[in-house]
Amino acid sequence: MLNSEAPLYDRSKSALSWPLMPTTREALETAIALEQQSMSLYARMAKIFADNPALRDFWFGMARDEARHVGALDLVRTVLEIEDKLDASSPISLEDSTIVKLRTMLERFHREAGAGLKIDRALAMALEVEETELEDLVAELLKAVQEPDEYERCLRLLVHDLGELGIMIERYCNDAALLRRCDMLCDRHAETLRASAAVGGR
Ligand SMILES: [Fe+2]
Ligand SMILES: [Fe+2]
Repeated sequence: MLNSEAPLYDRSKSALSWPLMPTTREALETAIALEQQSMSLYARMAKIFADNPALRDFWFGMARDEARHVGALDLVRTVLEIEDKLDASSPISLEDSTIVKLRTMLERFHREAGAGLKIDRALAMALEVEETELEDLVAELLKAVQEPDEYERCLRLLVHDLGELGIMIERYCNDAALLRRCDMLCDRHAETLRASAAVGGR
C-alpha cells in the first residue's frame, strides 16, 4: 500500500533521483554531477600521491579525462537548451537504484581518500569506479543525443585511462585478479569503440 505521506519522489530533497522516466535535463544533470564527483575523487588522489610525480600525473590525467566527460555533457546540455529539447523524456532510461548505488559509492570513496591511503587501495577504488555503469551511461547519453564524435572521444579517453590504470595496477598492486578485471574492462570498451568506428566508417 502506498503511504501518501511518503512521496515516491521529492525533487526538493534530491537532485539525483526521479520517477521512472527522467527528462533529458535530469539525465544530463545527474550524469554531470556524478562525473564531477569522479573527477574530484581523482584530483584528491593526485594530491594524496603528489610526492610521486608518476602517480601524481596519472591521477591528474584521470581527473582531467573526467573533466572532459563533464565538458562534453555540458556542451550537449547547452545545445539542447538552445534547441528547446531539454525537457523531453530522456533518450535513455536510468535506474534510480543504479544512481543511488553510484552516488553512495563515490561518497564512501571520498571519505576514504585521505592522508595515509595506500596506492594499491586507491587503484582498486579507481577500478571500482570505472567498473560502474557511469561511463556506459555517459557514453549512451552522448550517443542517444546524436553526438557521435563526442561519444567516440569519450570511449577513446576511457580506453586510454583504463590502459594507464592497468599499468599502475601491474606496477603497484600484487593482485593478478585486479589486473585481469581492469584488462577485461579495457577490452570491453575498446571493442565498443571499434564497433562504433566501423559503423561510422572512421
Ligand atoms: Fe567519466
Ligand atoms: Fe571514468
